[in-house]
Amino acid sequence: MRVLALLDGTLADPDSPLIRVDDLGLMRGDGVFETILVVDGKPRELTPHLDRLDRSAAMLDMPAPPRAEFERAVELVIGNWAGGREFALKLVYTRGIEGGDGTGTGFALGMEIGAKVLKQRAEGLSAVTLDRGIEPDLADRAPWLLLGAKSLSYAINMAAIREAERRGAVEVIFTTSSGSVLEGPTSTVVLVRGKTLVTPPSKLGILPGTTQYALFRAAERAGWTVLVEPIQTSELYDAEGVFLASSVRKITRVHTLDGKQLPDSSTLLTELQGLYESEY
Ligand SMILES: Cc1ncc(COP(=O)(O)O)c(C=O)c1O
Repeated sequence: MRVLALLDGTLADPDSPLIRVDDLGLMRGDGVFETILVVDGKPRELTPHLDRLDRSAAMLDMPAPPRAEFERAVELVIGNWAGGREFALKLVYTRGIEGGDGTGTGFALGMEIGAKVLKQRAEGLSAVTLDRGIEPDLADRAPWLLLGAKSLSYAINMAAIREAERRGAVEVIFTTSSGSVLEGPTSTVVLVRGKTLVTPPSKLGILPGTTQYALFRAAERAGWTVLVEPIQTSELYDAEGVFLASSVRKITRVHTLDGKQLPDSSTLLTELQGLYESEY
């Protein structure tokens, strides 16, 4: 089941070719995207996702993605969805065609959630730490590297997941070369220390996660302390739980890191999932 809506307010066949071969999104990965979770017809964190799409586009010096058109496309996909009660809704906006008038190419695509994600939600996952080759001040020093933008250039992120698979795991926690925790290729890292949730700051050059933000909002209301501060890789082993959060996976627990088993955090996972769901 897939539903595709275009920015002109029409539905299109997701199995038919639509994108020109000279679209810069295709040619150079030059564009931005978002992936939103829809549950029972309601998109979660829609405004933060649209805001982040704007922010990413601004970082790429692209025109602002047309918000009203994207909102209409979101409604169209949701209104025409006939699959499961939860699905992934992808928004894509590219720089448009090479030598064109600067109009971006955009669409919203509803897709079923993959079996791999459902398995990780239920069973947790094994991850490896991988060096992202950046230092904590690089995002400020070199804005052209687009650290923290959700650009279409995710080939490195996908390569990292393949590397994890070669090492017998399924996910990745990126670190700086000096061993500071960054993020997963498609997720935010959250660790639990006592009654405190900790996540690394986005100024390190990572994407501010909408799921992590929703979780922290709920946790704070429920009396937890929430901290956004640097985490050293060694701290992951001392934590009571290490979790990867993202829109479609929600919150998943890391049970094994670099081949070492982490403490059993299944009870904590249930608690965090409950907090996150209490936001909706
Ligand atoms: C690099 C990266 N970090 C973090 C996240 C988590 O963001 P969100 O919770 O808004 O889905 C994503 C989402 O795909 C991502 O690609």
